[in-house]
Formats: sequence, structure tokens, C-alpha cells
Amino acid sequence: MHIITLRSLLLAAVITSFVHGEESTVLKDEAAAAAPSHFLNEPAEYRDMRMAWWRQARFGMFIHWGLYAEPAGQWNGKTHYGEWIQNEAQIPLDEYTQITARFNPAKFNAADWVRIAQSSGVKYIVITSKHHDGFCLFDSALTDYTVMHTPFKRDILKELSEECRKQGLKFCTYHSIMDWHHPDYLPRRNWEKRPAEGVDFDRYVQYMKGQLKEIISNYEPAVLWFDGEWEKTWTEERGRDLYHYVRSLKPDIIINNRVGKGRQGMAGTYDPNEAVGDFGTPEQEIPATGLNYDWETCMTMNDHWGYNKADKNYKSGPDLIRKLVDIVSKGGNFLLNVGPTAEGLFPPESIQRLEQIGQWMNVNGDSIYGTTASRFKELPFGRSTTKGNRLYIHIFDWPADGRIILPGLVSNPVSAHFLQDPNCPIGITCEPVNVVLAIPGKALDPVATVIELAFDKIPDMVYGPEIYPEETNFTAPIDVSFSDFVVDGPYRIHYTLDGSDPNSASLYYEEPFTLRNSATVSCLKIARDGQPVSPVSRKHYIRKEPPAKPKK
Ligand code: GLC
Repeated sequence: MHIITLRSLLLAAVITSFVHGEESTVLKDEAAAAAPSHFLNEPAEYRDMRMAWWRQARFGMFIHWGLYAEPAGQWNGKTHYGEWIQNEAQIPLDEYTQITARFNPAKFNAADWVRIAQSSGVKYIVITSKHHDGFCLFDSALTDYTVMHTPFKRDILKELSEECRKQGLKFCTYHSIMDWHHPDYLPRRNWEKRPAEGVDFDRYVQYMKGQLKEIISNYEPAVLWFDGEWEKTWTEERGRDLYHYVRSLKPDIIINNRVGKGRQGMAGTYDPNEAVGDFGTPEQEIPATGLNYDWETCMTMNDHWGYNKADKNYKSGPDLIRKLVDIVSKGGNFLLNVGPTAEGLFPPESIQRLEQIGQWMNVNGDSIYGTTASRFKELPFGRSTTKGNRLYIHIFDWPADGRIILPGLVSNPVSAHFLQDPNCPIGITCEPVNVVLAIPGKALDPVATVIELAFDKIPDMVYGPEIYPEETNFTAPIDVSFSDFVVDGPYRIHYTLDGSDPNSASLYYEEPFTLRNSATVSCLKIARDGQPVSPVSRKHYIRKEPPAKPKK
């Protein structure tokens, strides 16, 4: 009883702090009191409370900033570097550290950054407290390799965290485990001359923990976003220990899966039951169908995380808006990167894109914040998100015939309106297994127009059979089968192999059949009275030539 009360209080505190955008002391005390002693075996309920603001937020800003902004991607005539410049251009440590004498971002203004972030619609900022080069953007008692020992002499994390709190954004930090500066970090780069005798990796870990304690007590980040975990000195065991340590300093903090060794490459996937960390971290990619745990895609606007003045290969605003919608429709968060200049400014190209996203979010934010993944398997014209009794439909490709078919939606909407123009009429027709919307002939917003559908309860959906095998490329003949097949059941599964919609005159399924050539398999369930009881499922199988035998 006591625990339940504490938990509901905590939940209230979490929500209040999200709304007001500030960390209340109540939250901290209650979190400490209600937190399980061992953070690695956390009850799902507690975890849900801890993740609540993050799941609500859906959109965040990544900021990669450090000494590397100064060379701006250029070294010895080459122009393609970013935050990895020290390693990629093989700059000896004593030469790289000289950049500190020039680092003076006089135009840095935390209030401006947070204002720009805020008006783009992001709800949190994740900034590099320390990147792989080991340079710190905050005041640390544990090293001189910080911004306080540059001509700038201002604690960037302090200014930014205070401003985030003032303007109502969650402040979060990225912290690299890999460190090319600290004498006790191992392994050395293979091109380096620095000796490794007497080096003690455990001492490095103590240093890192000490800095994390400084960061957590001084700036109270809501997320700790680790990175650089892939080197052989880092182990899952060390990751678990670090996770536990950070949570013990701030029980409600959220930690990404790069704290341990569970991450599978750029896909960022992991097994949350086996490996430590609160969310998956796909990098520069969007999982095809989402993941069944919390995840966040991080992505650059151009081709670099750190500032590169030659890189003008920016994704367009519309592209970024659609990527945000795509990610959220699959149940993920979008962490979009900005690499500020050495002067302390966001690049104008980034500002322009953030403004475009912000304008779209102003109108359509309801279809993003606090939503969960789409209930539809696939919508050929766009995407969808879900919020309680409401479904949001995002139209990317405007239908020429003005008809939007929502397959498998079997509850009747009580209302439908465009977020952009509630007075613009939408016709609703409820077919046996689809809802069909009639919309104007011309797109309201060619990037993504959003329709909100309201229901008097959580809407019911029906799905077509699953088609197996999953893998759609084959070389030797495959056996195709369907889920939901019942002998003498209330419906039959009918199918076609030529891409056309099956009906009760089409082939019906009794057992797996063999496919020898490329084909589009389409199937649906049809009741004994001839009425469809599911939408159509489709899979396009492609027969490929077997790989050529190596010549003798
Ligand atoms: C990679 C890069 C790093 C960047 C990170 C962002 O891990 O090493 O430079 O900070 O991706 O996800």
C-alpha cells in the first residue's frame, strides 16, 4: 500500500516535471525512495514511470561540440573530417591539445540555442560532455582538459543546463567511454607513439565515474547517452557496473544501451533481457518495422556529427519531417544532430531545417508527442501513430482519387479532421474491414498532412494472415504458408499470385504450396457468407540467380 502510494506520487511528479520542464525535488526524493535497490532487476511498473517523459517526448536534439569544431573538418588539405579528426588525421596528442589555446566560441549563447531547439519542437537536448577526444565541455576537478582551460573559460554544460531548465527542455548528456587523451585509457591508437607502460584501465574507470558524478550532481542530466563502448577493454560486466553506479547517483535517470556491450552495430538493436541499457540506439538508420522495446534513432542533418564547414550535403526539411514521422510511427524517438561552429553558432542550414520542422510540429505536434506506434501493418500512402482512442494518419503521397483506405480498421470513427484545417470536410465510409476517407483533391501539406480520427473506445483492428517465409529473396523453390489457417473454420483464406486482390473465386489455401518463380502473394480471410473478414496481406517474393560457382 505504502509502495503504491509512493509510486503514484512519483508518477505524478514525473508528469508534472515534464509539463513544467523542470526536475522537482519531490521527484528526486520520491525516486530515491521508490527505486528498487538493484537497478538491474527493476519492476516494469517503475521502469514505465521512469521512461514516461522520454516516451512522451519523441523528438530530441543531439549536439556534438568540442575542440574538433575549431578545425571544422579540415586538416592538411583534407576536408572530410568531423569529431574523429584527431584519430583519422592521426594528429599527435600534444598537437591536438594545442587547439585548446584557440577554442573561444565567443558567440555561444545558451538562451539562443535552447530557444532554437525549443521552437523546432524537440523536448530534450543531448550534448557531448566529453567526446572520444577526451575534451570536456564542463568544469571538472579531475582534469585540466576542459573548456575552463581555454580562452573561453565558461562552463558550457552549466549554462546550457540552466537555460534548458528555464525554458522547459530536458537536459541530457552524451559521454564517451573511449578516451584518446586520458593516460590510463586503453587501447592506444595503433598509430600513436604514446607509451602504455604503467597504464591502469581501472584507474581510468575511476576517473570516468568521478566525472559522471560531477556531471550528475552539477547538471542533473535526464539521460546519460554513452558511446565508444566497442573497444575490447570495455566489457558487459563493466557496463553493468557503470549502469548501476549512474542509477544509484540518480535513480530516475535513463541510460542508453551503449553503456554495455549489447549493441549490434549501427542497427543499434540489443536484447534488453540479456544486455544492460534502457533503450536501443540505431545510428543513421530507421528500423524497417520498429522494435519491441524502447529505441531512439540518432541521425545527422548532413554527413557529420561534429561541425564540418565543407559538408553541405544536408537532408531537406521535408525529408527530416518525414523521417521523424516514420520513426514515431514505428514507436521510436528521433535524436537529430546539430554540430555547432567554433564561434558557438548553429550552422544556418541547421537552423533553417529546425525552423521548418518547428512549423510543421506547431500544427501537427499532437500526432507526435505522447503517441505510440502505428496499429496498421502498412499504409502505402504514408504513416500512422496512436494515442488512446485516437489514430493519426500522416499522408505523404496524396491519392489522385481522393480516397484514403485504412485497411483492417473495423471500429467506426466518431470524427475525423485535419490538424491543419479542422473545417475542411472529410467523408467517412465504413466498409466491412476498412474505413475509407474521402479527402480533397489537393494536398493540404505536400510534406505530411495529418488527419486525426477519434473513436469512442480504443479502435478494433483486424489483420490479414501472415505470409511465410519472412525472407523474400530465394534461389531454390520455397514453400509458402499462411498463419491463421483453420480447417473447416468460419472463414477461408483465399489468395492470388499475380498481385491482384483475392476474392471468393480465387484459389483457397489448404496447405503450404511451392513457389518456383518470383510472385506477389496476396491473401485475405473471407467468411462463409462471402464477406471479407480481414484486409489483404501481400508479400513480393523474388527469385534470384544462385551465386556463381567459383571458377577452378
Ligand atoms: C558514433 C561515432 C561518434 C558519434 C556517435 C553518435 O559512435 O563514433 O562520433 O558521436 O556515433 O551516435
